[in-house]
Formats: sequence, structure tokens, C-alpha cells
Amino acid sequence: MMETGLEQLHHYLGEALVAVPIVLVFLALKGARTQSKLAKLMGRIHTFGLLMPGRLVYLVGLTLMYMTGRSITEVFILVGLIGWVPIEIVGKRLIKGELKVVADGGEASSKLLIGAIAQFLLVLTIVVAMEYGH
Ligand code: HEM
Repeated sequence: MMETGLEQLHHYLGEALVAVPIVLVFLALKGARTQSKLAKLMGRIHTFGLLMPGRLVYLVGLTLMYMTGRSITEVFILVGLIGWVPIEIVGKRLIKGELKVVADGGEASSKLLIGAIAQFLLVLTIVVAMEYGH
């Protein structure tokens, strides 16, 4: 019972995460590189829409792994475990780093857009691995 609830949470929240970097890409193209208001919005969506729910999905994923008796050596699990790491690094270095430049009155470089695209591809890779691997 509890397991199905956690499974559903992991499944649907995990799938929904794919949409968030698309919004980030859109904001990066729409002026978040130069306008502090849009940069602030992008920062909030990045933190509260992607990183925080993603960490929850990650922890629930680990819990599911133990509860369902799966092995950490299964490929889709490794893709999830390892694939989240670059999402955090890109988030810190490219997204947050570039948004800080905008907040300080400057102009973000193309790293902002590249970071959002990279996060999209990483989340997509994890979700595809989860759907087809388990
Ligand atoms: C944050 C990154 C992750 C995302 C976006 C994600 C997404 C998903 C999705 C969408 C499913 C459903 C697949 C389906 O039923 O068709 C799934 C299943 C699963 N995930 Fe993840 N996942 C992530 C990380 C992890 C991690 C880190 C682990 C384990 C350490 C994990 C373990 C599992 C397991 C065991 C299942 C299968 C549950 C079952 O047997 O029904 N996931 N994941």
C-alpha cells in the first residue's frame, strides 16, 4: 500500500520534472539573460520546480529500490543515481552562476541556455531509462 503510493509519487513527479527545464530554456531565450525580473523568476523555478522536487524523487527512488529489493547495479538505477549529479553541478555552475551575474546588474552568457538544455537532456535520459529499464 505504502509502496504503491511512493511508486506513484516517484513515477508522476519524476515524469513531470521533464517539463521544468523546457520552461527554463524558454525563459533563457525570452530575456532572463538580461532582465533581472525574469532572471529571478527563472531562479525560483529552477530551485523550487526542479532541484527540490528532483531531490525528493531521488530519495523516494532510493527508498523504492530498497523496498522492492532491487539491486544498485541495475542499469536504470545507476542512470538515476549518477545522472542526477551533473544536474546539480550544471544547476550550480551554469544556471545559478549566470543568474547571479544578472542579479548583480550584468548580462548572462550563453551558458545559461546551455545549462537549461543540458538539464533537459539529463532529466529526459533518466526518465527514459526508468521507463524502459525497470
Ligand atoms: C531524480 C531522478 C529520477 C527520475 C526523474 C525518476 C523517474 C522515474 C519514473 C518516471 C519511473 C516510472 C517508470 C515506470 O513505471 O514506467 C521510475 C521508476 C523507478 N525508479 Fe526512478 N527516477 C529517478 C531516480 C531514481 C533513483 C535515484 C532510484 C534508485 C536509487 C530510482 C529507482 C526507481 C525504481 C526502483 C523504479 C521502479 C519502481 C517500480 O518497480 O515500479 N529512481 N523512476
